Amino acid sequence: MTSKFLEVQGLKKSYPGQNKSESVTIFENANFNIEKGEFVCVIGHSGCGKSTILNILAGLDDASDGIVLMNGREVSGPSLDRGVIFQNYSLLPWRTALQNITFAVQARWPNWSKEDVLAHSQKYLDLVGLKDAIHRKPSQLSGGMRQRVSIARAFATQPQLLLMDEPFGALDALTRGVIQEELIKIWSEDKQTVFMITHDVDEAILLSDRILLMTNGPKARIAESVKISIPRPRTRTDIIHHPNYYKTRNHLVDFLVNRSKTLSGENQETVIGNYPKEVIFHD
Ligand SMILES: Nc1ncnc2c1ncn2[C@@H]1O[C@H](COP(=O)(O)OP(=O)(O)OP(=O)(O)O)[C@@H](O)[C@H]1O
Ligand SMILES: [Mg+2]
Repeated sequence: MTSKFLEVQGLKKSYPGQNKSESVTIFENANFNIEKGEFVCVIGHSGCGKSTILNILAGLDDASDGIVLMNGREVSGPSLDRGVIFQNYSLLPWRTALQNITFAVQARWPNWSKEDVLAHSQKYLDLVGLKDAIHRKPSQLSGGMRQRVSIARAFATQPQLLLMDEPFGALDALTRGVIQEELIKIWSEDKQTVFMITHDVDEAILLSDRILLMTNGPKARIAESVKISIPRPRTRTDIIHHPNYYKTRNHLVDFLVNRSKTLSGENQETVIGNYPKEVIFHD
């Protein structure tokens, strides 16, 4: 029997409420799979539980119910097989950009020679356009450059699953656009499996193979899985001319503006084993 790469079954998170006997359910009955090499984005309103799901996948938080399987094995605790990129960069301030990467690469492959570690690290810094700034410390880099180092570091260690929590949230629109295209470039190198949270509908369409849509909390759930069939390679300027682009975009925006509310809370069908509705737009 072949198992799916990542399987999330019946995931739920609740916290104790104001009144100790009651608890607040943030989300429940989250069921989805991710194939090896797939790029999946999650969209939903603030507070619906996106970061909580990502942290559970990373092994940094525990679910109240349900299970996460990677290669058929239950995820419990953090592992080098699952890399995380947060919004706030999390670089080691006393190391240069290059040293931040060599450190992680050496930890990942302890038997590699110094030369191999260096060559591998430099290759990933080149892919995010940081060739000239590799000897600068994080305090001497702009926000955009720091996030490029974080991305290069995460991809260089080639985790089986890369988790990104709004990696471009703190960047201005221009920088964001440039780094999105660098991300596509670096992702195309080894086709890492990615699970990414974003608030930006256009970013999600540009990057994803599939977009998961979450209803509003409390009791949020993953209501839809929207397949992005627009062929790759994609660029920000070309993608908008594809016949599917505005159909997909309108569908996502309508979900966020209208349906994320009406489908949420007590109105939902809570059937155990209920997978999100699959949506695909044809040309
Ligand atoms: N320790 C905690 N105790 C109680 N509630 C919590 C705790 N941590 C998080 N929450 C609640 O869980 C919900 C989901 O939080 P989460 O950070 O996952 O949301 P999010 O979808 O990532 O939101 P955003 O888009 O703003 O980042 C929020 O309503 C938050 O208030
Ligand atoms: Mg969040």
